[in-house]
Amino acid sequence: MNTSIPTLTIQDVFKIYKEGDVETVALRGATLTVERGAFVAIQGRSGSGKSTLMNLIGGLAVPSAGRIIINDTDLLRLNEGQRAMFRRQHIGIVFQAENLIPFLTASENVALPMTLEGHHNAYRRAKSLLIEVGLGERLHHRPNQLSGGERQRVAIAVALANEPDLLLADELTGELDSATSDSIMALLKRLNVERGLTLIVVTHNPSVAVRAERQVHISDGQLREEMVVAYA
Ligand SMILES: Nc1ncnc2c1ncn2[C@@H]1O[C@H](COP(=O)(O)OP(=O)(O)OP(=O)(O)O)[C@@H](O)[C@H]1O
Ligand SMILES: [Mg+2]
Repeated sequence: MNTSIPTLTIQDVFKIYKEGDVETVALRGATLTVERGAFVAIQGRSGSGKSTLMNLIGGLAVPSAGRIIINDTDLLRLNEGQRAMFRRQHIGIVFQAENLIPFLTASENVALPMTLEGHHNAYRRAKSLLIEVGLGERLHHRPNQLSGGERQRVAIAVALANEPDLLLADELTGELDSATSDSIMALLKRLNVERGLTLIVVTHNPSVAVRAERQVHISDGQLREEMVVAYA
């Protein structure tokens, strides 16, 4: 695997929210390159623009200015439908707000993106993903029959369903106890090392951040690389 290929390039990105006369500049010239197979932790205070950045990388919103390029595809050149398809094929997203479908069971939620992509064996693979995130006993529960942490793990399985190149996780371990959080991070790290899954994780949790090889801070709408302190 050639690890020098950038999987993601964020170039001088601005995001300005306008509501009536009020303008909020959430990103102000954010720039970052992420190599294929990297594991990047994004940190910053509440309101610093972390979720905004993740939404833009995931193609769920478009920048006010600047470019976002993933695997040679400039997201701004895609229309909304093309962006949705690109996202389904290349990007896994686990966001702060859960987006499970309430009337589908855990395994149906995980199988859905695979079914949409025409995969065979969607249910078999959904089951094995749910077992991987520790939910083998919860396959047929609907979201309202699961705990917050369990729902989050279903959301992780959904995000991994189509074997994304890039996984975006916004505070994914926020609601989990430390043992569950550690096992989820160990799973992601394994996918990172074994399959070259590129990981971008927003976290306030130092024990998650230390697993990353790059730590990026966001403040004043800009991104700044932190030196990772190596310790024995
Ligand atoms: N849809 C929106 N409309 C207007 N302003 C918004 C919108 N979304 C976010 N903002 C503002 O943009 C700024 C960045 O918000 P964002 O959600 O990206 O922060 P964050 O770093 O993810 O914070 P947290 O750690 O609390 O999740 C904040 O000032 C927020 O109020
Ligand atoms: Mg946020």
